[in-house]
Amino acid sequence: MFDVCVLGLGYIGLPTASIFATKGKQVLGVDVVQSVVDTINAGKIHIEEPDLDILVRAAVQSGNLTAATKPSPANTFIVAVPTPFHHDSEDHAPDLSYVEAATRSLAAVVKPGDLIILESTSPVGTTERMRDWLFDELGPGHNASDYFFAHCPERILPGQMLKELVSNDRIAGGLTEEAAERAKALYETFCSGEILLTDARTAELAKLTENSFRDVNIAFANELSMICDNLNIDVWELIDLSNRHPRVNILRPGPGVGGHCIAVDPWFIVSAAPSQSRLIRTAREVNDSKPQHVINMIREKANRFREPVIACLGLTFKADVDDIRESPALHIVEQVVLQNLGRVLVVEPHTRELPKSLQGKATLIQADEAIRSADIVVLLVDHKPFKRVSRRLLEQRIVIDTRGCWA
Ligand SMILES: NC(=O)c1ccc[n+]([C@@H]2O[C@H](COP(=O)([O-])OP(=O)(O)OC[C@H]3O[C@@H](n4cnc5c(N)ncnc54)[C@H](O)[C@@H]3O)[C@@H](O)[C@H]2O)c1
Repeated sequence: MFDVCVLGLGYIGLPTASIFATKGKQVLGVDVVQSVVDTINAGKIHIEEPDLDILVRAAVQSGNLTAATKPSPANTFIVAVPTPFHHDSEDHAPDLSYVEAATRSLAAVVKPGDLIILESTSPVGTTERMRDWLFDELGPGHNASDYFFAHCPERILPGQMLKELVSNDRIAGGLTEEAAERAKALYETFCSGEILLTDARTAELAKLTENSFRDVNIAFANELSMICDNLNIDVWELIDLSNRHPRVNILRPGPGVGGHCIAVDPWFIVSAAPSQSRLIRTAREVNDSKPQHVINMIREKANRFREPVIACLGLTFKADVDDIRESPALHIVEQVVLQNLGRVLVVEPHTRELPKSLQGKATLIQADEAIRSADIVVLLVDHKPFKRVSRRLLEQRIVIDTRGCWA
């Protein structure tokens, strides 16, 4: 019998499972991908995150963490599977199929008294739907009050996950007060931040609110950057000057907003309450329009050359991570290739090979070499090594710095 069974061993589930294991809990990590399970059982990792390799190795070597493709009986189940939206739906409807499949897979192993925690970022009402899916799968003869359901969203920042996993305040939202209390007691195993109790629906909306807040503020910065490009004003200088006002704190613009969270979660609010979420929707649209603005700038510069060489620095959705999900940088490079704007050189220190969409269509090389060969240099991600690029190397080149990395 395990203490904790974590379903989904990705960026959230793997650090969570490992940290419980290093605190002495018997943990089973479950993932539907066999190669992920094999990698973890070998004490290795399949994703990039500072110091995660050390944590996972320690957890596996201690004998407290094992991985499997199917859940086993445990006192607590934590669901940390993907919650994307349907790309083909007009209102970006949430895709809860992973949460539903993971929940239904628990029917074979749960017993009365178990705590079931949803960590995946989810639309309001998902924890209640989990309970319904589980009871639908269990069939008649089971009593809902014998099981404890809670939503405990995750706030950790890629690149700083292990530190934030421990130090961040967390929210524990239960379908009942007892469920919230039990979730709190569990996270206290490793969490030094405060654990705040509420109901599941408020916890669900709180997580979506946090990411929507970020999205709206980034949209303001991105909109400013497009206004500045139109008026030929340096947006970085403008923001620095405006931020000297004691009550103004404008964020930095970028090539768009990507990743698994900020580019996705606001849609869960919009699709649930479309009439009331006009600002949130507009922010999403502004941020989604920024990559096209960058592509237009590249095209305009490329048209000045007969055979332009375009160096694109960065593919990931943010700095110093290997994650390309919903990455505006990747989208921009794909479009530059697709629209045949020039010969494309890609620099991405966090990958050894180009994503499939760029293979055979662009060349992956080192930063200095790419810049030396390029007519146009497009900075898309502010990875640490790019900040150290020699300014002298950039002279004589057209530079499109979407992150203000060299401003
Ligand atoms: N990555 C982040 O920075 C972050 C931060 C906060 C919240 N979140 C949220 O956490 C959730 C998980 O995100 P992630 O980044 O860890 O995703 P991920 O894609 O890295 O990992 C999810 C894992 O779940 C596995 N999986 C899918 N269906 C399964 C099933 N039925 N049973 C067991 N495993 C299954 C997948 O194979 C995958 O390995 C999402 O809701 C996300 O929005 C992510």
